[in-house]
Amino acid sequence: MDNANLTQEIKRIAREKSALILAHNYQTEDVQDIADHTGDSLELARIAARNDARIIVFCGVHFMAESAHMLSPEKTVLLPDPDAGCPMADMADAEDVLRLRDEHPDAAVVTYINSSAAVKAVSDVCCTSSNAVAIVKAIANDSIIFVPDRNLGSYVQRFTEQRIIPWNGFCPTHERFTIEELERAKRRHPDAIVMVHPECRPEVVDRADEVLSTGKMVAFAQSISGRNIIVGTEVGMLHKLKTAAPANEYILAAPGFVCPNMKKITLKKIYDSLVSESPIITVDADVASRAVRCLERMLELS
Ligand code: 13P
Ligand code: SF4
Repeated sequence: MDNANLTQEIKRIAREKSALILAHNYQTEDVQDIADHTGDSLELARIAARNDARIIVFCGVHFMAESAHMLSPEKTVLLPDPDAGCPMADMADAEDVLRLRDEHPDAAVVTYINSSAAVKAVSDVCCTSSNAVAIVKAIANDSIIFVPDRNLGSYVQRFTEQRIIPWNGFCPTHERFTIEELERAKRRHPDAIVMVHPECRPEVVDRADEVLSTGKMVAFAQSISGRNIIVGTEVGMLHKLKTAAPANEYILAAPGFVCPNMKKITLKKIYDSLVSESPIITVDADVASRAVRCLERMLELS
């Protein structure tokens, strides 16, 4: 089947089976175009929590599908490629978080949504890149163990007097983006606005005009027009921006800005997944019952 036929068939089967297709902003163009909704982690978690579909096809990575399942346990949540993981989420495990908790008994644990359900289950509240600063500020504790992204943790520290105790995790895709590459892009486009994701290294964040989640990048781009914008995040974002805010020009900050896991989802895998209603993502009920509190608390606070 070619892409046009696959697209038609996916839409037909999704309608027949009452399936909702959600795609993260880093998905490929053809996957974004077929989705019912595209968005950042927070936007997609909110949609997953409130809709009446029978099936959710999550075009993203494993922790996103896990979160959708925990927020909407009555639905079947499909991840078209079960190997689409997030290496940063794999950098934290529950035993080590519990050990750190013991070392800092007065600290609250704020966990980035890019984490496993097991880690969420031993945390106090979740956050995403879009609400991390607000969530930390909403917590009364003077000390915050921030898991697993050290770069997002260091970004949050800029806005609060609370002591952030960072976990030593990072996103390999954003960590690879260097200050030298950013300076080169700025020299080539001296008039451009620079927007970067808070998963970038602190020295990159220092040189950016805007530091935003992928959803907030869209809102920012829609608020201006006729500008050149250097985009310091995953390449899939360019399609999202061109579609949602076509009045600007977008320049990818560095050629290597690709998340190989996000790119594992293809139209063919979405089709197969819808037909077979697999692979289904589930979470152990005991873990889910504790982890979902952390997600729900985030949704209440943001
Ligand atoms: P957003 O929530 O900003 O879309 O980020 C998700 C992510 O995985 C970034 O690498
Ligand atoms: Fe994980 Fe980074 Fe890929 Fe986002 S871009 S899913 S943080 S590896």
